[in-house]
Amino acid sequence: MHRYWWQNAVVYQIYPRSFKDTNGDGIGDIPGITSKLDYIRDLGANVIWLCPVCCSPMADNGYDISDYDHIDPVFGTDEDFDELIREADRRGIRIVMDMVVNHCSSEHRWFQEALKDPEGKYGGYFHIRKGVPAQTASETAAPSADAAGEALSSETAARSSDAAAELLPPNNWRSIFGGSAWERIPGTDLFYLHIFAKEQPDLNWENAELREEIYAMINRWIKKGIAGFRMDAITYLKKEEGYPSYPADAEDGLVSVKHGALNKPGLVDILRELRDRTYGRELLTVGEAEGVGKDDMEDFVGLENGVFSMIFDFSFCSLNLKAPNFFWYDTRKWSVDELKQAAFKTQNYSRDGWIGTCLECHDQPRSIDHYLPESGRNFYGASMLAAFNLFRRGTPYIYQGEEIGMRNIHLKTISEYDDVSSKNQYARATDAGFSEEEAMSFVHDMSRDNARTPFQWNSNENAGFTATGSTPWLAVNPDYTEINAEAENENPASLLKWYRKLVRIRRESDVLSYGDFEPAYRDIPGLAAFRRVLDDKEIIVFCNWQDAEISVDLGDKALTSVADNYGTAQINGGRLTLRPFEALIGSF
Ligand code: GLC
Repeated sequence: MHRYWWQNAVVYQIYPRSFKDTNGDGIGDIPGITSKLDYIRDLGANVIWLCPVCCSPMADNGYDISDYDHIDPVFGTDEDFDELIREADRRGIRIVMDMVVNHCSSEHRWFQEALKDPEGKYGGYFHIRKGVPAQTASETAAPSADAAGEALSSETAARSSDAAAELLPPNNWRSIFGGSAWERIPGTDLFYLHIFAKEQPDLNWENAELREEIYAMINRWIKKGIAGFRMDAITYLKKEEGYPSYPADAEDGLVSVKHGALNKPGLVDILRELRDRTYGRELLTVGEAEGVGKDDMEDFVGLENGVFSMIFDFSFCSLNLKAPNFFWYDTRKWSVDELKQAAFKTQNYSRDGWIGTCLECHDQPRSIDHYLPESGRNFYGASMLAAFNLFRRGTPYIYQGEEIGMRNIHLKTISEYDDVSSKNQYARATDAGFSEEEAMSFVHDMSRDNARTPFQWNSNENAGFTATGSTPWLAVNPDYTEINAEAENENPASLLKWYRKLVRIRRESDVLSYGDFEPAYRDIPGLAAFRRVLDDKEIIVFCNWQDAEISVDLGDKALTSVADNYGTAQINGGRLTLRPFEALIGSF
């Protein structure tokens, strides 16, 4: 089987806004990233996934792109970016960009042209439909499929004097960030579709001209020396024909947009063409591919012919929420064994393909707070999580700050938050009758800003993220005096040092890079253990995910420890005793 370079990679994800500010405007920038490349090289990562840096009005912090070909001035210049690629390359680090092509910004030229002339060329780049007169819609509880917005015709698209009449959106889809997924185009009876915020109009992938523009743009980035792409919200590209409404799934009368737009038939054909016309199979491509199940694995990530190198394993990140609505207030109890089963199931599904393993990203709370009980929110718990993340089969991703154990932030009021989804979720919780205090507690647990607070470099003012006297765009977590990269670099027993060690072990080992995955000691509750096997070589990883000892009967096998977060393993007479939150990597 052909081995790809990205199977042996360890990726470090950077949220540029929050990484390192060099010009004192309180916002991280590309020269800041370049200035910290040695830190990333020392960690051992050989790929950086950069969250969006292209021109954007920042309604969703760069995930709303208004010009795909240039760097937003807030992050630096096009030349700064070229320099980053060059300097990274000198250190053996490759750059993967975030490619946001499900939607663009409402300020993108294409959309501005579409607003002026919804029937013209650029109108066809978006999903624009006629609204439904309020009366027609109120005759049925939820608009039926028949009532879904009509296609444009010269007559319907005309800016009519009736435009002010009350019109409802073409269907009842709820956007991911809350509220209708349709926004009315002022002065017309037309609406455009936005699966995310209204400032993020969805692009129409049925339109051949649009597709050509996107391919050409992606190819320009490849020519610049980009090593791959993280494909944002990529399973939403195909919308269900006719845009039918579905029965409401909550009291707002709406239904999750996922019914009409997530992983719909025909999506893979679009993705194949996209791959063949641009990045092929040798670049690293990772799909943010919600809604992809067992039967889709071969098409998406098959090592022979998948549309991407890998997709992220998100199988366990929302165990604390009730499916399918993903309201942050709609929580449930979950267990470590459930998490383990979910992660192992993905391993099983992806046997002939490849995945990206991760615990954190810019959309998730910090892993220490999210996956560990109170008693494990310390070095042991965090280092155990690292072993779980870095040694499963797939390419591991480390999100900035995870390697030093950065934590969730608890801001007092919702106005101190920046994240658009936090604001929406807060409103949804208070609408549902929760008190302000309760609504804030959901935000504390789930806000995307938990992961977006400025990187904690040292114990100086603003954690060394920005120049003295500047105000960071988002509050710095007050724990920076304790948790910061400089302190951990000086401490031989720090989490940062543990990460460096594990990344090195991972990258140097063929077994850990390419070996098969096999669950081990599956029936022991609270223990996530697995083997990685290649030919006659084997590595075993034990993660005690609980605040109590676990005893494992090793039989007559002699276990040698390669790394242990307690320093040494406790093995006596064929019995291994794992202390609370102990991680042991060993071989027989
Ligand atoms: C993805 C990104 C998220 C963004 C959304 C819309 O889910 O990870 O940050 O808000 O897409 O682009």
